[in-house]
Amino acid sequence: MKKVLIDCDPGIDDALALALIAGSPSVRLAGITTVGGNVDLELTTANAVALREFLRLGDVPVTPGSAGALLRRTVRASHVHGATGLGHVRLPAAERGASQGHAADFIVETLRAAPGEITLVAVGPLTNLALAVRREPRVVEWARDLVIMGGSFTRGNHNPAAEFNMLADPEAAAIVFDAGWTVTMMGLDVTLSAVVTSGVLDRMRPLGRLGRDLLEPAARFYGVVTADSGPAIHDACAVAYVLDPSLFSCVPAVVNVETAGLYTRGMTVTDFRVGDRRANAQVGTALDVKRFWDLVLGAYEGLAAR
Ligand code: BDR
Ligand code: CA
Repeated sequence: MKKVLIDCDPGIDDALALALIAGSPSVRLAGITTVGGNVDLELTTANAVALREFLRLGDVPVTPGSAGALLRRTVRASHVHGATGLGHVRLPAAERGASQGHAADFIVETLRAAPGEITLVAVGPLTNLALAVRREPRVVEWARDLVIMGGSFTRGNHNPAAEFNMLADPEAAAIVFDAGWTVTMMGLDVTLSAVVTSGVLDRMRPLGRLGRDLLEPAARFYGVVTADSGPAIHDACAVAYVLDPSLFSCVPAVVNVETAGLYTRGMTVTDFRVGDRRANAQVGTALDVKRFWDLVLGAYEGLAAR
């Protein structure tokens, strides 16, 4: 059984990542923390709370964290995820609200209580994780692993240089990459290879309420679906790595996050020539796309059948 704490900013693909967790009996969710990112914190938290009920995630706590970036004005991606953050998806209002307290404290205390057991998965801007590291540097030793969706060694998406989660808070990302642990970085290089084609959508559509109320409207809002192209479900790749690392090829690297560049702020400068330096990252370089979809759709099918 893998214990996971996920920090997220739902977000369409964040929702699909949470659905992958919900459909994976080998994962026990220790908590959901939210961060302002794709949309404002109030919305990412409301979406996480609604998803907890819709996906029947039980009494797992949802704890809100940072509304904005550490230092500078942040960016939002409502042009990608819609005004609510969940595109065309309309979920029933949640009966229970979010927990009290701050995500950074929740991360620290949850890891302190189970050193070496919990894998952190971060699929939004890294503000909460940076605050947790600053508050208690031992989280780096206590975390079993850290897997992020973010960055790239070849390109950006919000602009040519920077991937959205890195650009939204480059200083936080720099703190996290420099903290002393090894960051498993699932960047655009791998996430853009797993897209929702019409064949994938055909397998999502029959999945009852899950397919009708979440998967299909999410995917359709997110991009044009054709036989051989469609939207990527980035954040699900980080969860898929936790479930089955053998789906991915990873290469050690030294990753530095650009915080000062006029045109390159948020770029993950990735040096595979590690030499005698410590590799601070394992960088995803390739994905077995067929096995990825078998895993993801198998989990969704299991969830729908429950
Ligand atoms: C990342 O940015 C967000 O818009 C998505 O939710 C994902 O985490 C992709 O660049
Ligand atoms: Ca996200």
